[in-house]
Amino acid sequence: MGSMEFESNNWIWDGVYYYPHLFGGIMITAAVLGLSTSYFGGYGVPCLPYFWPELGIFQKRKYGKKPVRVYMDGCFDLMHYGHANALRQAKALGDELVVGVVSDEEIIANKGPPVLSMEERLVLVSGLKWVDEVIANAPYAITEQFMNSLFNEHKIDYIIHGDDPCLLPDGTDAYALAKKAGRYKQIKRTEGVSSTDIVGRILSSVKETKVGEDRNDTSLPEQPHYMNNTQAEESQSDGAQISHFLPTSRRIVQFSNGKGPGPNACVVYIDGAFDLFHAGHVEILKSARQLGDFLLVGIHCDETVSDHRGTQYPIMHLHERSLSVLACRYVDEVIIGAPWEVTKDMITTFNISLVVHGTVAENNGLLGDETDPYAAPKSMGIFRTLESPKSITTTSVAKRIIANQKIYKKRNAKKAESEKRYYADKKYVSGD
Ligand SMILES: *[C@@H]1O[C@H](CO)[C@@H](O)[C@H](O)[C@H]1NC(C)=O
Ligand SMILES: *[C@@H]1O[C@H](CO)[C@@H](O)[C@H](O)[C@H]1NC(C)=O
Ligand SMILES: *[C@@H]1O[C@H](CO)[C@@H](O)[C@H](O)[C@H]1NC(C)=O
Repeated sequence: MGSMEFESNNWIWDGVYYYPHLFGGIMITAAVLGLSTSYFGGYGVPCLPYFWPELGIFQKRKYGKKPVRVYMDGCFDLMHYGHANALRQAKALGDELVVGVVSDEEIIANKGPPVLSMEERLVLVSGLKWVDEVIANAPYAITEQFMNSLFNEHKIDYIIHGDDPCLLPDGTDAYALAKKAGRYKQIKRTEGVSSTDIVGRILSSVKETKVGEDRNDTSLPEQPHYMNNTQAEESQSDGAQISHFLPTSRRIVQFSNGKGPGPNACVVYIDGAFDLFHAGHVEILKSARQLGDFLLVGIHCDETVSDHRGTQYPIMHLHERSLSVLACRYVDEVIIGAPWEVTKDMITTFNISLVVHGTVAENNGLLGDETDPYAAPKSMGIFRTLESPKSITTTSVAKRIIANQKIYKKRNAKKAESEKRYYADKKYVSGD
C-alpha cells in the first residue's frame, strides 16, 4: 500500500476542520483520535487551538472506551449513493470508519481502466459524511500482509464487506483470512444502482442517436430518440439497466442530518443538477459551505435539467442526485426539485443570506430567451459567483466513458450478466 502525501492534499485537513460545524463534539473527538493514530502520526494536529473548547470530551473519550475502528474498501469509480449507503452502514458497525480506495493500477489489472482518477476518487470518498479516514492506493484483494497492517498499524477492529461474494481469481474467498480471524462483518448490498448501470446509461444515451461505431467525435448527442421496448431491451444487453432504485422516505432520513439552521445562522444557497456527482461538485460545495453556517442545496428536477442541458440529461434521476448531494459532508439540507429561478419568496422562506453559483456551469443555453434565474438575489445584493475549483463536469465524465466506448461496453456486458443473475435469483434479505 502506498502512503499518501497529506501535505499536498489540504482537503483532508479542511475536512477535519469542518466537522465541528456539522456534527458537534463527538465527531471532533473521532477526528482528533484519528489524527493521533499511526496513519496520521507524526503530524501533530494542525488546527488544535480550534479543538480546545472540546477537550473535555476528547479526554473522556480517550481514556474511556476505545473507539471501534472499522475498515471497508472499494474502487469507488463513478461513486454513487449505493457506495455512500454501504459506507453509512459500515460506519454504523463501529465508531470510526477508515476507507481504502483501490489504486488505479489494481483496478486496471482487475477490471479495466477506471473512469475517475485516484485523486478524484479520493476527493469523492473523503467528501462523504460517514468517512473518518481514507487510505489511498489500497490493494484490490486483501492480502495477509495488508490485513496485518490494517490490524496493527491502522488499529482496525473489523473489516466490512457487502453480502455479495467476493472471489479472488483463484476462486477463494477474498475475506477468508479476516473471517478466520473473527474480524469480519457483513452489510447488505444496496439495491438500485451500480457503476455498471451508470456506464450503461451513458452508453445508451449515445447509442440512441444511432451514430456509427467509428465516429470519432465524442460529444454527447443533442437529440436522442426515445426508445421503444425492443430497443430498450437491446440497450439493456449492453449493460444499461432499467433503474431498480425506489426512493423511500427512510433512505432519505438515513442520509439527512435532521437539523435545521441554528439561530442567527448564515444560510448559503447553491443550486444545480448535480448529475453524476463528481469531485468538482464536492469542491464547490465545500467552498460554498465555507461562506456561511448552513448550506442549503437546490436540486433541479429532471424536466428542468432536460430543458436546459438536452434530453439525454440527466443521467441520474432526481432522487438519486439528491441522495448523492445529501451524503456530502458539506451539505446541511437539500431541496428535492428546486425551481430554476431563485425567487424573493424562496429567499425569505429559507432566510437565505447568500446565493452562490460556480463559474463552471453546464447550461447549454438551449432556451435562448431565458431570464436570469439569479435576478432576485442579484438585485438584493446577495449573489456571488464562486470560482469552481475543478474544471471537471458531468459532460467531461460522460465523455471519458464515450471515448473508451469499446472497452467499457465489453466490461459492462460481462458485469451486466452477473447483475442480471443477481436480480433474477434475489431473495429478501433483512437489514438496511
Ligand atoms: C476525426 O476527427 C478529426 C478532427 O476532428 C477530423 O478531421 C476527421 O475527419 C475525423 N474522422 C472521421 C473518420 O470522422
Ligand atoms: C422499435 O424500433 C425498432 C428500430 O427502430 C423497429 O425495428 C421496431 O419495429 C420497433 N418496435 C416497435 C414495437 O415499435
Ligand atoms: C436570518 O439570517 C440572518 C443572517 O443573515 C440572521 O442574522 C438572522 O438571525 C436569521 N433569522 C432567523 C429568524 O434565524
